[in-house]
Amino acid sequence: MEMKLKGEKIAMLTSYDYSMAKLVDQAGIDIILVGDSASNVMAGNETTLPITLDQMIYHGKSVVKAVNRALVVVDMPFGTYQGNSLEALNSAIKIMKVTHADAVKVEGGKEIIESVERILSAGIPVMGHLGLMPQSINKYGTYTVRAKEEVEAQKLIEDAILLEEAGCFAIVLEKIPAELGAKVSQALKIPVIGIGAGGGCDGQVLVLHDMLGITQTFSPRFLRRYLNLAEEIQGAVNSYVQDVKSQDFPNEKEQY
Ligand code: KIV
Ligand code: NA
Repeated sequence: MEMKLKGEKIAMLTSYDYSMAKLVDQAGIDIILVGDSASNVMAGNETTLPITLDQMIYHGKSVVKAVNRALVVVDMPFGTYQGNSLEALNSAIKIMKVTHADAVKVEGGKEIIESVERILSAGIPVMGHLGLMPQSINKYGTYTVRAKEEVEAQKLIEDAILLEEAGCFAIVLEKIPAELGAKVSQALKIPVIGIGAGGGCDGQVLVLHDMLGITQTFSPRFLRRYLNLAEEIQGAVNSYVQDVKSQDFPNEKEQY
């Protein structure tokens, strides 16, 4: 909120493991999200739905060990907070107790507000997530831009206000028109972090493996690739294979 007041944009990226999180933290990121995108990126699932609480905790714990300065937020996985606020509280407590993260993130507005309030009541900071909500892919059927129509846009604004009033410290807005992203950011006191939600948001988030160019098939308009790491890694592995086959590796100096 201090950064929002000062007009300083917030930079957030995902991480799922110790080695990457260490690099990302040292490079000056503000927030590291242990996203349930780990389900896709780390485990190879088609959606975020299959990842479990224990798997998210494993990723969260690994990331927290590496981080010295950034805020660490852990996604609550599908099925651990919807419908039953006591279950939501217990899931959030388990995440906080075992990972030592700073906060949790949940997808949804009005439908899950009881869970949000109950988690907050235990002193656990909550980040909201509206717009495209990948855990609801089976309801929407596609990953296309959300809230283009007035009715859905209005509900998103109401949900954002509801989350702020409940006490969330920030929200993520995913894949919505830039105009709506700016409008919500202006309407809220808490920071709004966008992914495909335009430059009017108070911060931006991307999936680390997407922006590094490790994932190759995912190319939405909002994704800026800062590296083509897939090519770099494949080049290095290919060189190693050739060096082993040709007996160039190991050389005299690389053995005892
Ligand atoms: O899981 C994730 O990586 C996310 C970001 C895309 C916001 O929720
Ligand atoms: Na997520």
